[in-house]
Amino acid sequence: MLVLGIETSCDETAASVVKDGRVVLSSIVSSSLSFHKKYGGVIPEIAFRMQLETIAGVVECAIKEAKVNLKDIKAVSVTNTPGLSGSLAVGVSFAKSLALSRNIPLLGVNHLYGHIYASFLNRDIPGFPFISLIVSGGHTSLFLVKDFDDIVLLGATCDDACGEAFDKVARILNLGYPGGPIIEKMATMGDSKKIKFVCSNTTNPLDFSFSGVKTAVLYYAQRHGLCRGYVPRHKAQDRRQKTQDTRRKTQVADIAAAFQEAVVGTLVKKSLLACQEYKLKKLIIGGGVAANNYLRLRFNADFNNEGIECLFPAKAFCMDNAAMIAGFGYQLFKRGHRSNLYLNMEFN
Ligand code: KG4
Ligand code: ZN
Repeated sequence: MLVLGIETSCDETAASVVKDGRVVLSSIVSSSLSFHKKYGGVIPEIAFRMQLETIAGVVECAIKEAKVNLKDIKAVSVTNTPGLSGSLAVGVSFAKSLALSRNIPLLGVNHLYGHIYASFLNRDIPGFPFISLIVSGGHTSLFLVKDFDDIVLLGATCDDACGEAFDKVARILNLGYPGGPIIEKMATMGDSKKIKFVCSNTTNPLDFSFSGVKTAVLYYAQRHGLCRGYVPRHKAQDRRQKTQDTRRKTQVADIAAAFQEAVVGTLVKKSLLACQEYKLKKLIIGGGVAANNYLRLRFNADFNNEGIECLFPAKAFCMDNAAMIAGFGYQLFKRGHRSNLYLNMEFN
């Protein structure tokens, strides 16, 4: 059965055709990221105007690349929560029109559940139950997954999301946007032991808090005159200037490494706690931050020690995409779920 997935919850316009919930026939992602870069974050008005312009072309492209016809699509699955209001409205309206005009079922999908499902694309689905950690730009959540239509939230961030903290720290250090990949790269050049940052405790041990560690980085960078990062403002003419730039670069790299260490350490600790509390030996990780190589290494090492299997999505499916929405929609369809044309968006 072919399902068309549509994802427009943030800056991406994405469409994908997935067969039987597993085989990805196409996955098209068009991003307006370059238009947001100079603002250091996503501007909702820019995002949804671009999505309005591109949605039809992106869907057409996904169908063409999958080498199928529109009449072969048996259901349409769309992200309806959480996300930016205007952006969600573009995808949901398009999906509704398609479902109505083709007379096929419509399925509204929670974007975070899509991220859980990303690990199963083009792979086997493990047995239930399992724990899932979702670390993205907007959310950080731990779930107990009993089935695809029986997912319990165990903990979430009380303030900044994990990816958001990476983005803000990169901004403090003047490294650019999005921050995750740049912090990861800088961290490989730094020494994580030179500075110690810690993530704040939370009342519910399975909740997260990242705003404290972000502020600690800000104060440290201010104290050491590093808020402008290491980028030389003028061409380094003399040797003294060059030496100073190299020193600043090393200091920024050390901050990046120490920050990444603190964040990944907390994610490992809390995910392990969830697995132990529910006596489960499987952890599924998803979301943009799951693309981080250090995070993957640490989870694999620490969880293997405990006899817990960790599963990550292929890198292409860590960031927002529509294949995960098509796949999850198929699973909902198989379990008898259907959305109607009154399907609402939920914005939080
Ligand atoms: O899941 P995603 O594509 O969008 C949301 O649903 O929010 O995640 C985007 C987030 C951004 O905050 C970005 O900085 C972060 O994922 N990210 C990373 C890495 N690649 C992307 N964070 C850490 N390390 C990375 N390699
Ligand atoms: Zn996402």
